[in-house]
Amino acid sequence: MDIEIRQATVADVPEITMLFRDTVREVNSKHYSEKQVQTWSTGANDTQKWEERINKLYFLVAVNQDTIVGFAYLKNGNYFDGLFVHKDFQRQGIASKLLRIIESKVIMDGFDEIKSDVSITALPFFEDHYYDVVKKQKKVLKGVIFENYIVSKAL
Ligand SMILES: CC(C)(COP(=O)(O)OP(=O)(O)OC[C@H]1O[C@@H](n2cnc3c(N)ncnc32)[C@H](O)[C@@H]1OP(=O)(O)O)[C@@H](O)C(=O)NCCC(=O)NCCS
Repeated sequence: MDIEIRQATVADVPEITMLFRDTVREVNSKHYSEKQVQTWSTGANDTQKWEERINKLYFLVAVNQDTIVGFAYLKNGNYFDGLFVHKDFQRQGIASKLLRIIESKVIMDGFDEIKSDVSITALPFFEDHYYDVVKKQKKVLKGVIFENYIVSKAL
């Protein structure tokens, strides 16, 4: 598969939010309850927040034949804040490609560690890429509790 990685622009917001909503509903729903999925996926509606992320953060999209098939963004230099792959393009190496570029950016910016909060769904992926679990935690989003993991990796 031919994948191009580029920086996101605000014109990508409709596709990014649709991918986010569909992936949470179809992929994360294997590990989270209906209520959690419902709450999490409503994050897609906050268009202004996605525009802000694109404008302020290091925000990448993976593109295959004009379709956005994944995205990733980095906050505060070395905090990997988001990684989502299209529901129909799972397990094809897209997240691994995005991760490699995100990690390169963190190294180029002078950090020797990358951190993230990752879902139950994403933990096997991060373990496969040599991230260590710092701790399991409970996070509150819009009044709903989510279990996830703080992970880190020395670069
Ligand atoms: C986690 C996620 C980003 C991985 O994306 P992906 O493009 O499918 O990952 P890759 O194809 O690059 O996976 C590389 C390796 O990671 C591991 N891996 C990925 N997903 C896995 C899974 N569900 N179970 C076990 N191992 C997995 C495998 O070792 C895989 O290699 P393999 O396919 O050759 O066995 C994707 O499943 C996703 O979008 N999940 C839902 C959103 C999410 O939870 N994001 C994190 C929010 S914090």
